[in-house]
Amino acid sequence: MNDLLDLADPDLYASGRAHAVFHDLRETDPVHWQPPTPDRPGFWSVTKYADVNRVLSDYETFTSERGTLLNLLGRPDPAAGRQLAATDPPRHDHMRAPVQQALNARAVDLHMSAVDEAVNAVLEPVRRSAGSVVDLAAVFRELPLAAVGPLLGVPESDRARLTQFAEMCAAEDDPDVRLPDGVTATLRRGHRELFAYFADLVRQRMRQPGDDLVSVLVTMRFEGAPLPAGAIVANAYSLLLGATVTLPGVPGAVLAHLAATGSYRAWAQRPDLLDSGVEEALRFATPGMHFVRHTRRPVRLGRQEIDAGQPVVAWLSAANRDPAVFDAPDRFHPGRRPNRHLAFGSGRHYCIGSHIARRTLRLLFGRLLAEVSDLELAGPPVRVRSAFLSGLKHLPMVVVA
Ligand code: HEM
Repeated sequence: MNDLLDLADPDLYASGRAHAVFHDLRETDPVHWQPPTPDRPGFWSVTKYADVNRVLSDYETFTSERGTLLNLLGRPDPAAGRQLAATDPPRHDHMRAPVQQALNARAVDLHMSAVDEAVNAVLEPVRRSAGSVVDLAAVFRELPLAAVGPLLGVPESDRARLTQFAEMCAAEDDPDVRLPDGVTATLRRGHRELFAYFADLVRQRMRQPGDDLVSVLVTMRFEGAPLPAGAIVANAYSLLLGATVTLPGVPGAVLAHLAATGSYRAWAQRPDLLDSGVEEALRFATPGMHFVRHTRRPVRLGRQEIDAGQPVVAWLSAANRDPAVFDAPDRFHPGRRPNRHLAFGSGRHYCIGSHIARRTLRLLFGRLLAEVSDLELAGPPVRVRSAFLSGLKHLPMVVVA
């Protein structure tokens, strides 16, 4: 089976077979070599929790500076050394500190009443649906920029098109996202539009800084000087992308599962399990399925000797279902404790938006569980066709108030 397996094939994830394949790989071939194809180099894949955790956190052995997504494989990463996600420590840490300060728990607290209002507004179509079918995937697609847009400095009027361009950069293989001229053209268009958008916004904030994240990037010092304009734009792009494409995947995957298994009420009746349930939702959904590193030196992983300069794909979604760490990993268990999932990564690149993401998800699930007494699937959920993004693009549901 492993000879025919292509872990970069988006159809594997669209079909819903990925977790079965990951379970098999963890047992039979936990450090798996994926041979090259005419348009893509070969790569290693790790699926065990311990290996994924090591690859993500051991930056001295595994660099982030040669691309962190499969869709960049074989091409130099133009953001290397200029963008947080594509820069190794110690430079990474100096670049990260001021942005982290603007996104730490205390800073996020100040935004929470606005985020609560935004979450409330996003859920309005669910309330209005009263007994008729509502596509929850479309509802949750509004969530990220409603919650994080003001923090980023993105006005409401721009949210819809920015969401569309972010999807072009992260789910370029999906037929509803892909442009008629192909996957590469889709990726290029998404990047071009978002970079042009942020180049304008950065120019505005240079003239008149405000209190948003783009202003933090514009006014911060890095290595004794302001961050170069290209690096500001690359980081603003990464903050937008990090927030926009990931958040909707969490409630989507979890509510689809709870409705399909008839287990929504069990969680709704336990408001004391909101916080642990949100952690479980993050583990269960793992919206960013993989991140890539390259070996800086020869290294032994499991039973494999890997040369220097090789791509290693850390499958977070596989690690988060590793039975060595999580009992009954395919089950959604809102009271699961401990729950050291890797949905936000591990080590120095641990998601910088984790506080705002967690708080937003707690508000969203808190309101849903309080207001909705049950859910019923009104048709099959449709998965995004992507080897990076795990999410649903359609989730037709009937909601019982
Ligand atoms: C449920 C929502 C989210 C998930 C699952 C998620 C997941 C992740 C993961 C796994 C990483 C580590 C990547 C790596 O190791 O290469 C990461 C990093 C990052 N995330 Fe998130 N993220 C989420 C929300 C957000 C939000 C709301 C923002 C922005 C406000 C954001 C911005 C970033 C940035 C800029 C990085 C790079 C950090 C660094 O390299 O130091 N993410 N995210």
